[in-house]
Amino acid sequence: MAKSVVAGLDRILTMELVRVTERAAVAAARLRGRGDEKAADQVAVDAMRQELNRLAINGTVVIGEGERDEAPMLYIGEEVGSGGPDVDIALDPLEGTTICAKNLPNALAVIAIAEKGSLLFAPDVYMDKIAVGPGYPEGVIDIDASPADNIASVAKAKGVPVEEITACILDRPRHSKLIEAVRETGAAIRLIGDGDVAGVIHTTDPEETGIDIYLGTGGAPEGVLAAAALRCTGGQMLGRLMLDTPEKVARAATMGITDPKKVYRVEEMARGDVLFAATGVTDGNMLAGVKFGRDSITTHTIVLRSSSKTVREIKARHQDLEKF
Ligand code: FBP
Repeated sequence: MAKSVVAGLDRILTMELVRVTERAAVAAARLRGRGDEKAADQVAVDAMRQELNRLAINGTVVIGEGERDEAPMLYIGEEVGSGGPDVDIALDPLEGTTICAKNLPNALAVIAIAEKGSLLFAPDVYMDKIAVGPGYPEGVIDIDASPADNIASVAKAKGVPVEEITACILDRPRHSKLIEAVRETGAAIRLIGDGDVAGVIHTTDPEETGIDIYLGTGGAPEGVLAAAALRCTGGQMLGRLMLDTPEKVARAATMGITDPKKVYRVEEMARGDVLFAATGVTDGNMLAGVKFGRDSITTHTIVLRSSSKTVREIKARHQDLEKF
């Protein structure tokens, strides 16, 4: 069988993608801790777009900064790249705008590239999510089961008592019942202020991050980005769009979503060959944030390919500072 266009190019594109998230991360990191979410997001968007337009792809943004009328750059449907294979792009130049503005952990610059038509065209609504990393039997998590059953199932499969499981949950009032239910099991919770792409990815390396399972609702676009990462590392994630008003159902229908209650698996959110890259903006559990030295800038990036399941960590010391 002929190799897909992305598979044919992915060894080159993998490294090129690193530059894209590095540039966005460095731009955002200059505005860490300045209390200005919008400014940090804007510089990350500008930097990512500039770098993306250098890539030899014919890319369409399917998960981006928003609809064309609300986002002047990297909007959904924007075409990027200098020409090449047709690919779909999911991106978030600054995932965790508030954590960057407050200089808290785990803000990232993130991108995923896949063959055209392979990424779920998710509207900007909430998604109910549950995820675990690789190594668990298929079906270990169930989005319709109680938090207690999911935690017990993961603990049993891991071979540890429930008390040794840590769940990651966004700290939101809407999660108060979920938090209570998880606490009742005896499991620990890592409450995060923002950044559930990182939250889901952290389940893929529990020894490093201390997180076994991700639970709760967050952005649907972030859900697709996280699924793209799990597609490359292994792991299970289930997501259901929260289409709780007729308007949202109608909007999703215009994006091709005919079953508003559908539960999406990783392979349904990110199919085919997928490349994924994330660079740390602020220090985090898996990735270090950007470091500004006297004569250099250091970045830490994770770059993933679904076809080989290679996980590369790239620590780069940039000395040609004019580029940044
Ligand atoms: P931004 O980078 O757009 O600020 O998103 C941060 C984030 O925490 C996501 O990681 C998460 O999916 C979403 O916001 C949760 O939304 P909300 O803040 O409305 O609960």
